[in-house]
Amino acid sequence: MIFETHAHYDDEKFDKDREELLGSMKENGIEYIINCCAAVEDIEKTVQLMETYDFLYGAVGVHPDDAEKMSPQVLEKIEKLCGHPKTAAIGEIGLDYYWHKEAEVQNLQKTWFRKQMELARKEQLPFLVHSREAARDTLEIVREFMKAGMYGGIIHCFSYGKEIAREYLDMGLLLGIGGVVTFKNAKKLKEVVEYAPLEQLVLETDSPYLAPEPNRGKRNSSLNLPYVAEAIGEIKGITAQEVVKVTNKNAKKLFNIPN
Ligand code: NI
Repeated sequence: MIFETHAHYDDEKFDKDREELLGSMKENGIEYIINCCAAVEDIEKTVQLMETYDFLYGAVGVHPDDAEKMSPQVLEKIEKLCGHPKTAAIGEIGLDYYWHKEAEVQNLQKTWFRKQMELARKEQLPFLVHSREAARDTLEIVREFMKAGMYGGIIHCFSYGKEIAREYLDMGLLLGIGGVVTFKNAKKLKEVVEYAPLEQLVLETDSPYLAPEPNRGKRNSSLNLPYVAEAIGEIKGITAQEVVKVTNKNAKKLFNIPN
């Protein structure tokens, strides 16, 4: 069975058929889902989902896109939610310099990234990192925290090259691999997947975004994960079943969900 480590089922793109779709996961081979908070105002929606579906766990946190909306009150709310029995991680947190070029905003992102990493350490929860066009600063912050001890984490939707991948793998972190690995032009990511040990990869969709081939451009869902497993298997010269089995085990270990 597949372990989906990163989806956003609270997104409005699922408003019309969320119940039906999530109700069909188990019969389609999806065993567990981590739903990740992103926007400040949507945190409650993830809580609702994790309280409704036994196979769905939550990552609580605020995306770098919302750094300007962060406040000590929101951080306090996230901290309270860490005590929820279905909270499995802090995420998604990190840096996004693709959409945010202003130094002032980037500094705010760093501040809240650090504060949420501190929370992950304190609560002994894994962290889920979003990093886009911010390779150096993300690595610096993650390294700083890993040195002083963290529970573990995933670099979600990994988009950098082998050199950066090696840094994270050496720290014992996992790389989240999704639909992009099926794209013809994703040469850099394919190299990373070939290089990284299977024991340090996990499957993810980032639904509703980044649907794999042959559904590229459509709304994504965890039901597309077999295409991702297939692509990873092809690169590594193993079966998709082996990819599913090992990545499931990796995720359960990280999120502390018994087999
Ligand atoms: Ni995401």
